[in-house]
Amino acid sequence: MKINFSERSATTTDKAVIFLVGEDKKLSTEAQAIDKKANGLLTKAMASANFSGKRGKYLAVNLAQGARADYAILAGTGATKSLDETALENIGGGLVPQLNSLRVASATLVVESAKVGNVSAADAAARIANGVRLRAYDFSKYFTKKTADEKPTLKSFTVALAGAKAAAKPYAHLSAVSDGVLFTRDLVSEPANIINPETLAEQCKTLEKLGVDVEILGEEEMYKLGFGALLGVGQGSAIESQLVIMKWNGLGKSSKTAPLAFVGKGVTFDTGGISIKPAGGMEEMKWDMGGAGVVIGLMKALASRKAKVNAVGVVGLVENMPGGNAQRPGDVVTSYSGQTIEVLNTDAEGRLVLADALWYTQKHFKPKFIVDLATLTGAIIVALGTSRAGLFSNDDKLAEQLFKTGAKVGEEVWRLPLGEVYDKQINSDIADMQNIGKDREAGSITAAQFLQRFVNNVPWVHLDIAGVAWTKKAGDITPKGGTGYGVRLLNQLVEDYYE
Ligand code: BES
Ligand code: MN
Ligand code: ZN
Repeated sequence: MKINFSERSATTTDKAVIFLVGEDKKLSTEAQAIDKKANGLLTKAMASANFSGKRGKYLAVNLAQGARADYAILAGTGATKSLDETALENIGGGLVPQLNSLRVASATLVVESAKVGNVSAADAAARIANGVRLRAYDFSKYFTKKTADEKPTLKSFTVALAGAKAAAKPYAHLSAVSDGVLFTRDLVSEPANIINPETLAEQCKTLEKLGVDVEILGEEEMYKLGFGALLGVGQGSAIESQLVIMKWNGLGKSSKTAPLAFVGKGVTFDTGGISIKPAGGMEEMKWDMGGAGVVIGLMKALASRKAKVNAVGVVGLVENMPGGNAQRPGDVVTSYSGQTIEVLNTDAEGRLVLADALWYTQKHFKPKFIVDLATLTGAIIVALGTSRAGLFSNDDKLAEQLFKTGAKVGEEVWRLPLGEVYDKQINSDIADMQNIGKDREAGSITAAQFLQRFVNNVPWVHLDIAGVAWTKKAGDITPKGGTGYGVRLLNQLVEDYYE
């Protein structure tokens, strides 16, 4: 998508011109001029379509030959008092399917006032454009036979405003974060024959050109360190497990400031192992590396916008396969922390990967906090559905910061409890713990409880993103498929509280 900001001019032409309209349905000056020239066409169209001006409502009107555009589109902005940055991104995103269904290749949105809702014109322009870019994401590289009329048409989007230059800076900032979101979506969308632990580690390496320091531990190194939990999961796979450590030292190469740490579950395919999953829907387990995908995208975002922060991203990459060398139910493994684990179900593998990745992160970096992300349990989808991630934490302040940030950026979380009663559920008869609860109760909590045994005195949040990493239904700024949920949330957390 080509994004442009241009100086406002009533004579600019394009395939479609877009005007913002509030709930008062009052047309802007430029829209009024078009309306007048066309004998009240826009006013009539609003009346006959019952256009409300509510957010998410759009009205496209075909203009006559010789008009400044083929279409005038009215975009409802809804109530002014809730018209903030996120709402503006959603308005921009919502335009994309409208423009594609009109088969328009290029469109210009006109911002005529100095402020849109509570946002300056320049910031509003940047937000709208960013929403367009995020919604226009399209993972179509594997189609070889689609014809032009089956593909999206929109290639270029312009926001016209007075003082267009002022939009460049806020847009550059947002666009760096979106680079991270789109990278995450790419990684999550790839099938598991393309993205496996080795190729995903190579993808991490590409961040080096942005100044991220990338270190990769293979199986031999992890074996020497004693990563029995992570390696057990990957031992049935023909592909080597990997631990990738990505460091962004935004406070300077030699800065000793404790980093913020982000840890991701990167199971590039989860068959369930010997506790194999049913065939129906198993293909979804290609996105079981979604937590790692977010951590990698976040590191890209932080580095791209040169965030003034020290951050480290650690991802445990494995493929969970059955096979002659696969881990068996009942096996006992020794984790990097020294604690032993009875593996009662080889499909509860994410927590085993995170156990070693968390311990490593805590031990080597003594971070300010750790946030881990994982498509950890089906139970979180039962509990919260697909609009919020489950949040578990040992630190009220960090949990509260994430809750607030989630509401702000539209990537929401909901906190669930931790506690002694749940922790007891994972005591084992023959080892320090077992990798599933004694019964099926509170499955997401017992999983989080397991993780908590691998963090000590560090503020920690676990986000179970099994319900939000992938969507079957397009949202305002998210097409269906990999969402990239988490990149914007964690970037904003860093921006608002830690930079
Ligand atoms: N990767 C799955 C969880 C999952 C399910 C993610 C659906 C996304 C969509 C995880 O490894 C898993 O298999 N969890 C089991 C745990 C159980 C064996 C205790 C589950 O949720 O059934
Ligand atoms: Mn599993
Ligand atoms: Zn899994």
